[in-house]
Amino acid sequence: NSNRSTGPTGALHDSAFLRACRGEAVPHTPVWFMRQAGRSLPEYLKVREGIAMLDSCMMPELVKEITLQPVRRHQVDAAIYFSDIVVPLKAIGVDLDIKPGVGPVVANPIRDRAGLAQLRALEPDDVSYVTEAIGLLVAELGATPLIGFAGAPYTLASYLVEGGPSKNHENTKALMYGDPELWQELLDRLSGITAAFLKVQIEAGASAVQLFDSWVGALAPDDYRRSVMPASAKVFEAVAGYGVPRIHFGVGTGELLGLMGDAGADVVGVDWRVPLDEAARRVAPGKALQGNLDPTLLFAPEAVVRAKADEVLAAAKASGRGHIFNLGHGVLPSTDPDALTKLVAHVHERSAV
Ligand code: CP3
Repeated sequence: NSNRSTGPTGALHDSAFLRACRGEAVPHTPVWFMRQAGRSLPEYLKVREGIAMLDSCMMPELVKEITLQPVRRHQVDAAIYFSDIVVPLKAIGVDLDIKPGVGPVVANPIRDRAGLAQLRALEPDDVSYVTEAIGLLVAELGATPLIGFAGAPYTLASYLVEGGPSKNHENTKALMYGDPELWQELLDRLSGITAAFLKVQIEAGASAVQLFDSWVGALAPDDYRRSVMPASAKVFEAVAGYGVPRIHFGVGTGELLGLMGDAGADVVGVDWRVPLDEAARRVAPGKALQGNLDPTLLFAPEAVVRAKADEVLAAAKASGRGHIFNLGHGVLPSTDPDALTKLVAHVHERSAV
């Protein structure tokens, strides 16, 4: 697993998405959506019928089909590998499940040193179905980039410590503040697992990776810098040598954008609360931006969606950064898929040079 400077070549290397990640000129602003595969699509609900979420993640042909569905339907500029942030934890034997309508639920939450024993290192063989599915996908996708992803140490820790989704993260923060040594050990193990999981995806052919620290916006900047940033930085450092763009995203992270970039991201994802030109003032020069239309806007009339999308494009232009158009968080399950298809076409048309 040497850090070969692989990286894609040819038409894939020159795709609008990868060019934008590198801050280069693009023929049009590339678009993809977080959670573009999944419950907003009837064709997804159909192929998932009777198959549990985590089981589906281990079925390479099914993963290939689900990953390709939004690319076919919406003409987005990148695919995101269909999986979940808890898949690598399941793969090393953590007793957890994804409960429909709830999210990841962990049988034995980690609250003390003994709990750490649940977290061994991840070996590529633990996730051979990921290598297989990505191989199938890159063969089919051709010049369309495939984004690999993983959960960041803080967000994974929040599920492991709380035992499931949580509004206030009280157990997680109690551990972080109350037993810094145990917290460091927990995050250290998670950064190793996450780095190994991203390496598997890159070596199988993913041409970019996104590190989801969805819930890290719960932290103040000083706590982030001290207690979380080093673990995320280790993940980015571990995959630095591959030459694939590294995207970093979280929700409610307006006060953390600069630090999240400094952790080692090439592209910083921004939610809808901070306009992209303002985000550019918070993120170190040279890094591209991704975002940031409010996902609930897709429930508004088409003319409103277009006007708001134009505002995002204008702010991105003013930022002077590479820009990948996305939502400020994932597609909501009840979104009308046609609204997404129309949004992609609109962004492509408006940004064409
Ligand atoms: O299209 C894509 O974006 C790829 C698929 C994807 C899933 N999960 C599939 C999924 C991605 C990128 C994720 C990441 C993920 N999972 C995150 C980070 C992204 C974010 O939204 O901030 C987080 C926090 C999770 C944890 C998780 N898994 C949640 C909160 C849920 C939703 C629970 C629910 O049912 O509302 C899941 C389950 C999940 N992961 C589903 C899908 C399609 C829904 C379950 C199903 O379809 O049966």
